[in-house]
Amino acid sequence: MKRKVYALIFTAIAASFLGCSVEESGDKATSEGKQPENERIEKLIGQMTVEEKVGQLNFYVGDLFNTGPTVRTTESDKFDELIKQGKLTGLFNVHGAAYTKRLQQIAVEESRLGIPLLFGADVIHGFKTVFPIPLASAASWDMEAIEKAEKIAAIESTAAGITFNFAPMVDISRDPRWGRMAEGAGEDPYLGSQVAMARVRGFQGESLSDAQTMAACVKHFAAYGAPEGGRDYNTVDMSERSLRETYLPPYKAGIDAGAATIMTSFNELNGVPASGNAFLLRDILRGEWGFKGMVVSDWQSINEMVSHGNVANVAEAASMALKAGVDMDMMGDAYLIEIPRLIEEGKLEEKHLDAAVRNVLKLKFDLGLFDDPYRYSDTVREAQDIRAKEHLEVARDVARKSIVMLKNEGQLLPLNKDAGTIAVIGPLADNHADMNGTWSFFGEAQHPVTFLKGIQDAVGPNTKVISAEGCNLYDDNRDKIANAVTVARSADVVVMVVGESAVMNGEAGSRSNIQLPGIQLDLMKAVAETGKPVVAVVMSGRAMDLSWLDENIAAILEVWTLGSESGHAAADVLFGDYNPSGKLPVTFPRNVGQVPIYYNHKNTGRPYEGDYSEPKSERVYKSKYRDVQNTPLYPFGHGLSYSTFEYSEIQLSADTIGFDQTLKASVKVTNTGPYDGEEVVQLYIRDLVGSVTRPVKELKGFKKLMIKNGETKEVEFEITSEDLAFYTIDMSHKAEPGAFQLFIGSSSEDVKQSGFYLKH
Ligand code: NOJ
Repeated sequence: MKRKVYALIFTAIAASFLGCSVEESGDKATSEGKQPENERIEKLIGQMTVEEKVGQLNFYVGDLFNTGPTVRTTESDKFDELIKQGKLTGLFNVHGAAYTKRLQQIAVEESRLGIPLLFGADVIHGFKTVFPIPLASAASWDMEAIEKAEKIAAIESTAAGITFNFAPMVDISRDPRWGRMAEGAGEDPYLGSQVAMARVRGFQGESLSDAQTMAACVKHFAAYGAPEGGRDYNTVDMSERSLRETYLPPYKAGIDAGAATIMTSFNELNGVPASGNAFLLRDILRGEWGFKGMVVSDWQSINEMVSHGNVANVAEAASMALKAGVDMDMMGDAYLIEIPRLIEEGKLEEKHLDAAVRNVLKLKFDLGLFDDPYRYSDTVREAQDIRAKEHLEVARDVARKSIVMLKNEGQLLPLNKDAGTIAVIGPLADNHADMNGTWSFFGEAQHPVTFLKGIQDAVGPNTKVISAEGCNLYDDNRDKIANAVTVARSADVVVMVVGESAVMNGEAGSRSNIQLPGIQLDLMKAVAETGKPVVAVVMSGRAMDLSWLDENIAAILEVWTLGSESGHAAADVLFGDYNPSGKLPVTFPRNVGQVPIYYNHKNTGRPYEGDYSEPKSERVYKSKYRDVQNTPLYPFGHGLSYSTFEYSEIQLSADTIGFDQTLKASVKVTNTGPYDGEEVVQLYIRDLVGSVTRPVKELKGFKKLMIKNGETKEVEFEITSEDLAFYTIDMSHKAEPGAFQLFIGSSSEDVKQSGFYLKH
């Protein structure tokens, strides 16, 4: 009923800006509704003053929580006034059906043109049902699971009024010092592209105007994941070839999957900050990729050009950003304050402003906001859908699929549910606050299932579960270690839950040391000295230096940050109710000095693949370190199962293919037991000779499949010259004829090898 009233009021207002009387608005507005969207947009732009146009580009954080450096001086009660004056296009970080509906009502009923607001948010890994952090779910290599999770994130967010999600973050990162590695899909452009597409599909569904889908925002354009020294917001300087080959593919994949919006990044790229970078925004994004959607700046990133030093003041920054193609100014006021003046002084043509407004209005039309501005704020759905039982079930499933078993010496895992006494030790063992992880402003701290609780829920009636915190997450207070050792001594097996808190990764979460924080390693050493069998459960938002654990602890599970169902998901794996299937989306180094370390590196002129056992004369003057091996601790794609999978030799359909032919490569994979399990079969190639040097391996495909104990499945991949293309010496994107190696296996290291030729 209420909805109808709003619709009527809205129709009346729409009619008024379209220049017809309220009495005739019914028919007129309906026929306007049938007009092509473009005509409606142009008509509306024709009605707008410069101030109203600029208002459509002005995006503020709301008053519920802050995700950036400056808390806006505008107090929240001023939002109402700004909305009435048409000075806000929307607010972000606001949520709640009733609240967003109230604000929307002001925009629709009380502003001159009645243009509806956008409500944005960082729904990075779930709304109130919190899914694993993106790096974790990427480790599932399960695109269906990821899409399903994002669909649920959209259902919950839209019920609370959110229409515009600042995700997926698709920045490739080869540097675990960078805290935002947690938010992306890791180091590989192929896997990163698949994940980007799955996330966009999940958020946007079939139609943007569906009340249960929201606009996706591919971010941060571009190359934000390659800051010097891994320090957040730092300079990025790279060749155009690396940019195009390694860093751009996931953004492009997200755009091709239909992402409605894209966000610029904080970094400069080769001397030009991304928010004023016409090469990125005009030439590549809109020119080459044909992007028709809306570009939003990152938080004050237009203004920050002044600090970067490529403009003298905010007015120059605003002009540069608008001309480069940044449509919406997040938190900067750069557009709001500077653009009207620049236009008035004849320093900026209004056509640039109109182009940006057009993109913003189109997004609002596509979301269906002009037809029903209240469709996303639904108190009934909000009560029913948020943290629905089925959503939590999916969260548990995605979480257990995200866990990577790094090591399992002597088959210590799975644990027996009747193991006698299990000690659960560590600062993250029973820690609610950190389970939701970075970028989880909607998830509530009391909700997640801790590891202790998950284990207690899983064990048999005769098993005793005891616990100790052992130490704090960061400081060097050793008071709790002795008690942890006593607890460990009285147990049959110890599960140690250690790692990073939620704020140790994510934005501004860079670290120069990627070992366990605080004195957690000392705690582990003290517990290990008891001689009890120890399983390490490691929480982190990045690849870690786990060298000591690898040498001294029998079983290691990398659980990243798993969200709402953390404890249940981990217990599923610990006790074998779920056979682990996750594979690393990032390389784990032996120490931080190896960083950047990634599987798809070049060979160098003096490659070294030895292990220091050969005569010195064979290894001097080779590309290596004096104090650590070249190989990583755990390679990209690594992840163990409770079963073993045996791979046959590779069968190829031909040893030579032409440019228009398809090569079929297959292997037979046998689960040699003792459990049913999923395996991620990975395909890599190496182009042996190119007009420019090529990586030693490049992921070109993968398939995740369930193989029953004792069963053999054949897995086939198709390869075309398109898959072999790269940026050649003249920067054209094409394959070159010649010899290729082809690898299929269980990780980037554990592979079978074959080869073929590509010929004209
Ligand atoms: C800054 C972050 O870089 C970006 O990812 C986020 O969407 C905005 N703040 C809004 O919270």
